[in-house]
Amino acid sequence: MLENLNPQPQDKILQLIAMYRDDPRTDKIDLGVGVYKDATGLTPVMRAVKSAEKTLWETEKTKTYTGLAGEPAYNAAMVGMILGAGYADRAASVATPGGTGAIRQALELIKLASPQATVWISNPTWPNHPSIIKYLGMKLAEYRYFDAASGEVDFAGLIEDFGKVAPGDVVLLHGCCHNPTGANPTAAQWAEMVAVLKARGAVPLVDLAYQGFGDGLEEDAAATRLVAASFPEVLIAASCSKNFGIYRERTGILIALGDASRKAVTQGNLNFLNRQNYSFPPDHGARLVTMILEDAALTAAWKAELEEVRLNMLTLRQSLADELRRATNSDRFDFVARHRGMFSRLGLTEAQVNRLREEAGVYMVGDSRINIAGLNAKTVPVLAAAIAAVL
Ligand code: LMR
Repeated sequence: MLENLNPQPQDKILQLIAMYRDDPRTDKIDLGVGVYKDATGLTPVMRAVKSAEKTLWETEKTKTYTGLAGEPAYNAAMVGMILGAGYADRAASVATPGGTGAIRQALELIKLASPQATVWISNPTWPNHPSIIKYLGMKLAEYRYFDAASGEVDFAGLIEDFGKVAPGDVVLLHGCCHNPTGANPTAAQWAEMVAVLKARGAVPLVDLAYQGFGDGLEEDAAATRLVAASFPEVLIAASCSKNFGIYRERTGILIALGDASRKAVTQGNLNFLNRQNYSFPPDHGARLVTMILEDAALTAAWKAELEEVRLNMLTLRQSLADELRRATNSDRFDFVARHRGMFSRLGLTEAQVNRLREEAGVYMVGDSRINIAGLNAKTVPVLAAAIAAVL
């Protein structure tokens, strides 16, 4: 049997982790996978998470199974953090292994409910989106998203392509901090996107993996909240990997908003999908998130640290844009300061990306996506000089 297997294409982001690890140079710079790092290169356990873990260790009495949908308190806390109040009647939800688990379960739910639906993704998007959609044998289409020349959203192209969405098609939207580009629609553009998609009868699927990394915890939820309030049916796949820094705990949620009369059946289908794929979702990370969100002091401590992380990335963005201005003697890269989230797509060719890796030990994804958090005050000018050298 196993002799029938063919090699699978490697995930480009994960491949880069291995290449970086195997590079013996001590001054190498890792701008690959989307993991937050502090100025010393460490991905720290957040203080509120450590504190919750200590309490959990002292007070946890059992490790018996949770519910199939996860602990109700976690789901309620997450729905509240993402959407605010007022969704209890409409929101079915399941805890999932990370944001990827939520995306996978969302697509499986769509396949159950509407196997013929086309799923529209932004061009470009996180590579695992099309990979999972194709793996599930679903129909896929792309809408224009990024204008490489300006480094901004290609809004005219996006709206034109949204005009081709058929009723019942699913449109995958990045709720904030677009991955890989870092370019995001303005509030006015979101309003227009919602109006067009509503007129087309689309079903939005929002991927919210970076809430709190862009303009702030509440601000980053604004587009998702607008979508939730505007459509009869919305799917939201959210991750706690980045904003709680609990990557390996695999903590995510899928929320399905629909008519209140359909909530019980939708919930039953979400539970069924969890049971088929992995039974009970992991609980450790979800428990920590719940403890933090249910305790005012822990919530305040967590929000303060998340804000430090966000502001640190904004400072790095500004200094990189400034250094690139100096190094290239142009405003070509000014968009880096305007982008939000962990990533910016620099608009370099694959050959230039390869040269940066080979000649300067700078690792970025082949499409020239950089993880801003991989930088620090010392490496910002090094990167700017290296980029100027390959232009
Ligand atoms: C990324 O885009 O780098 C992150 O979402 C991590 C991943 O799993 O790819």
